Amino acid sequence: MSKLRVYQLAKEFDISSKELINRLVELGITVTNHMSTLEEETIGILKELYGKVEEEPDEKKVTEKKNKKNKDSSEITEHKEQNGDKNMIKIPETIAVQEFSEKIEKNVSQIITKLMGLGVFATANQEIDFDVAATIALEFGIEIEKEEVKEENEFGFDQTPDKLEDLKERPPVITVMGHVDHGKTSLLDAIRDTHVTEREAGGITQHIGASEVELNGKRIVFLDTPGHAAFTSMRARGASITDIAILVVAADDGVMPQTIEAISHAKAANIPIIVALNKIDRPNANPDKVKQELSENGVLIEEWGGDVICAPVSALKGEGIDNLLEMILLVAEILELKANPNKLAFGTVIEAKLDKSRGPVATILIQNGTLKVGDSIAAGAAYGRIRAMINSLGKNIKIAGPATAVEILGLSDVPEAGDSFNATKEDKVARQVVEKRRTKMREENLNATAKVSLEDLFKHI
Ligand code: GTP
Ligand code: MG
Repeated sequence: MSKLRVYQLAKEFDISSKELINRLVELGITVTNHMSTLEEETIGILKELYGKVEEEPDEKKVTEKKNKKNKDSSEITEHKEQNGDKNMIKIPETIAVQEFSEKIEKNVSQIITKLMGLGVFATANQEIDFDVAATIALEFGIEIEKEEVKEENEFGFDQTPDKLEDLKERPPVITVMGHVDHGKTSLLDAIRDTHVTEREAGGITQHIGASEVELNGKRIVFLDTPGHAAFTSMRARGASITDIAILVVAADDGVMPQTIEAISHAKAANIPIIVALNKIDRPNANPDKVKQELSENGVLIEEWGGDVICAPVSALKGEGIDNLLEMILLVAEILELKANPNKLAFGTVIEAKLDKSRGPVATILIQNGTLKVGDSIAAGAAYGRIRAMINSLGKNIKIAGPATAVEILGLSDVPEAGDSFNATKEDKVARQVVEKRRTKMREENLNATAKVSLEDLFKHI
């Protein structure tokens, strides 16, 4: 068995390179990309896993192949040493033979001959797939890399998925939901009181629509926005900004209409629920009855053979809070939440208002990337350069990474809660994006009016 590259083996298994890389990560084997060479031992393990154990091959062919392979790999190493990974030739998903020949600096006829050797008959203008190009390049002892395809949204923002190696662990973002008066606000207060020790000078913690706590050195972000609002406005955009829903159920009242609504929100967003069984200090608290009602509504807690964690708490007395936070961290760990701090930030507006003295103020959640004071941003129909950033402790900060909620100053207008925001390199870009958005909104409004008036017209005919 000789050494193979990730993409070659993936092809053999008829799966994507990405899938194979994920499998390798699961096995604890580090690979940089689909061009990485795999050790024989690894290939053996994978072949067993994918049920492709090698047949006993013809002795002569193997020696021939081996010699050739050795030659190829020594050439490749040389090539790599000369160029370094950074200078590796980049080839798109498909490429015309002519262009490919220019990229690898080989004659078109040489390439066509090699292609024929593979049973591929192509002319100079014909396109070949990256995998074919990679095989041919290897025959010349040249290593090539797939060109990253930048996926952009309609406003030109880069939406290319992050590379595995760029992703770092990030804190979970939590939303608290539940029926009226079941203790959502009290629970958030209790969490803040017990875990937010650091205060702004003067002892006043400014309210910014989100709070952060720390337990055993790990951060947890709570959105103070009523859970339902966070879901309805965000869901319209097909994205959820929270990772875990805390479902507050009063132990003396049980599952009520808004509890059921909250369950359906969390289920629709496909995020895990942790039940905070609140008011356990009440003499008429009946945890068993609540658990039974939860199971009747599709929330099967661990005790009932399900996988939903149920943490008994008393927000009033501050009991069970640590345990609840520990459970949150446990669920977050399973979710393996990751983000890429090394790129321009994007995220969602949580709250926004016009402040008399400070102008438009927005609390935003950075979902990916890092935001800095001085960055330009486009947030919904507002844009601007960030003049100041205030964290959940009311402190002015200059830089904020993924899963951080901050209040920002410097926007031209007040964006709406649920609007997405993107940081841009230049002011100009942010302004252009917003102008584009505004035009689009105007057009949509016009279309809506036009539609209505047409319908109205028909009504009267
Ligand atoms: P809305 O925002 O109106 O939906 O209510 P909420 O879910 O935020 O409830 P809130 O925290 O305002 O609490 C409602 C009432 O329950 C208040 O009078 C609280 O003092 C009381 N309460 C909250 N938690 C507890 C608890 O653990 N034990 C007891 N005994 N009372 C509690
Ligand atoms: Mg409340």
